[in-house]
Amino acid sequence: MKTDSTTPNHPFYEKVETLLSSMTIREKLGQCVMIEPCFCLDERTSEQFGESYDGVDDPKYLSMLLEEYHIGAFLFGGASQIEDGSAKAWATYINKVSEQNRKTRLKIPMMYGIDAVHGVNFMKGSTIYTHNLAVAGTWNPALTEQYASTVGAELSALGFNLNFSPTIDTARDVRWGRVYESLGEDPFLASQVARALVKGMQSSGNLAACAKHFLGYGESRNGMDRTQADLSDRVLLEMHAPPFEAAIEEDVLTMMVNGADVNGVPVPVSKKLLTGLLRDKMAFKGITMSDWEDVERLYSRHKVVTSRRDSLIRSFNAGLDMNMAVCNIAAVDTMESAVREGSIAMERVDQAVRNILLTKYKLGLFDADPVNIQQASVRVGNDESKKLAKQLATESITLLKNDNNLLPLKKNLKSVLVTGQSANSKRHLCAGWTLGWASAEEDDLSCATLLDAIKTSVSHDTTITYAASTEELTALNLNKEDFDVCIAVISEEPHAEWTGDSFDLALEEEEEAMLKASVATEIPVVMVSMIGRPLKMNWAHEHVSALLWIYSPGTEGAAATADILFGDANPSGKLPISFPQDGSQVPCVYNARSYQSDEVWTRYEPLYEFGFGLSYTSFAYSELCVPTMVKSGEDITVSVTVTNTGERAGEDIVQLYLRDQFATVTRPLKSLKAFRRIQLEPGESKTVQLTLTPAELGLYDEELNYVVEARKIDVLIGDLTGEFRIED
Ligand code: NOJ
Repeated sequence: MKTDSTTPNHPFYEKVETLLSSMTIREKLGQCVMIEPCFCLDERTSEQFGESYDGVDDPKYLSMLLEEYHIGAFLFGGASQIEDGSAKAWATYINKVSEQNRKTRLKIPMMYGIDAVHGVNFMKGSTIYTHNLAVAGTWNPALTEQYASTVGAELSALGFNLNFSPTIDTARDVRWGRVYESLGEDPFLASQVARALVKGMQSSGNLAACAKHFLGYGESRNGMDRTQADLSDRVLLEMHAPPFEAAIEEDVLTMMVNGADVNGVPVPVSKKLLTGLLRDKMAFKGITMSDWEDVERLYSRHKVVTSRRDSLIRSFNAGLDMNMAVCNIAAVDTMESAVREGSIAMERVDQAVRNILLTKYKLGLFDADPVNIQQASVRVGNDESKKLAKQLATESITLLKNDNNLLPLKKNLKSVLVTGQSANSKRHLCAGWTLGWASAEEDDLSCATLLDAIKTSVSHDTTITYAASTEELTALNLNKEDFDVCIAVISEEPHAEWTGDSFDLALEEEEEAMLKASVATEIPVVMVSMIGRPLKMNWAHEHVSALLWIYSPGTEGAAATADILFGDANPSGKLPISFPQDGSQVPCVYNARSYQSDEVWTRYEPLYEFGFGLSYTSFAYSELCVPTMVKSGEDITVSVTVTNTGERAGEDIVQLYLRDQFATVTRPLKSLKAFRRIQLEPGESKTVQLTLTPAELGLYDEELNYVVEARKIDVLIGDLTGEFRIED
């Protein structure tokens, strides 16, 4: 059983209790408020305090925040910036704040939170990794953990001790603008990846990961960001809770709460979800925090309270420990008066502050040394991280179509046409949350573009012709006989949060025109989709010869893509999410609860299925061995042999799905329950064993109890099927 600081034998019990007993009410409440010091200063200081300050590091300003308001945590969001955004500037600032904080009465260390969601993405010169959806597309938890641990170590070297990452929402509707930040549609795959991300991120011991956004954020009713979600308890438990349970099993230290309304109750005031489910059932022991200004929105947007004061009281009483108040420093005053008048019980305050202090002790913040500015700067953007980012991108890239084995291309082709503005863009490679919220400035990034990488991959005798726009393509007045291939790079404008919502999944007009113009050249087209999420690809699928999905692969993504285009690497990514035929088909998920019938619409007919992805080689599955029976409560081990039947070395992802023949409640058409990435030389065979525990064999019954029912289950691996039964 896990212990928390209220358990007397917990190693930090005494320390937390002693400190807590010496704190004033105001000191306690300051710990529960998170402030963004740059925004606060720019927008509201004069209004709020009637005084002006000389900058975010003005000692008077810091003293007001830390000594007068006792603020316990600073956050830096996607658009926050300290001076020139360099490692030196950030580390120096953090040192200054900590120094000032040591002047406070109790010297309780600060938490410094940041959105490093695909690398140290707020800092110039850093390595930008591919986004989360692509990370899930590698189906490689070991590599994922290595990536997260590298980023975590870089962040803690800079002085940060909290990362608002990973986003582990199950994305059940591709219209949602944050799909690229998610781990895809499947709760099992998302759980394995979430586990690796949390484990890696927290491996240094002095950085807290933040699992976000609890709960049901990835399936709103109309598919749009932060809009109403109507999700039954079954759907919440089966589809949305598993990644959070996995994160909790890995001891994730903090959790950010979904600000939207689920079943009529915004999550920041949902006692049922925050206390009943998260604390009591899922046994989360860390800090729950709101998302950006979401407490305020209970009043201004959701209208579930009649005053801003009530929004603070109700969310805190529902179980929210920390309010990402951003600029609302006065929240401390309001909460203090609410405690004094009895609207918030002292017991609840102590509970929240215990969670916060315990986390600070666990992270070793009370004994932390100042940031070593020299060392912090060296790590950012180093060769090791670039290599890792390239590997992650390479393993995620997914080949969706390859007629007549057009790919890989020969390096000594005579002439290659490259089209599309994003072929020559760094911004599009990195997409949202890069050196800013929605997008970086092109000149602030220094990495190869795909066009650069293509040029360095081909022979000296190959001619590369580039057209960024349809006008440039027309002006070329080209003769199709002069070209071997056209690489059409299709992208979309980088976006963050709701700015990426899409009702119809259509390609942007100019991108679609570019694709059509490329196809109209009658040169065989390899489409490279540099789009972080599934958009409508039907037309492309019908008209291009090959289609490679590279997501938004980051600063090393161009080299990774060129390796695959020209055969230095063999594609091995598999889809973590379905590509619907179009926007009218959503939600389109492979594991919808369903049954077999021709009479009603229960079919799953996407353009590309979950788990799909081609290779330059081929794999054959044989010798599926499934025991005939397992006793309820026991494990079962299944084995299968995979052979590389092609002529190239390659990596395959063995995917094991279960399909209940009958159960007491309706079940998904099939569910992923195990997978393994394997490497095979041409002609080589490997036998893979996959073990399923009761955690994979159970279901939520009518009363929503998790039980392993006696029943018959099909096992599906590749094109093979077997079955077994569970007996009581
Ligand atoms: C809003 C986003 O929803 C969340 O993911 C992010 O961590 C916070 N802002 C802080 O920037």
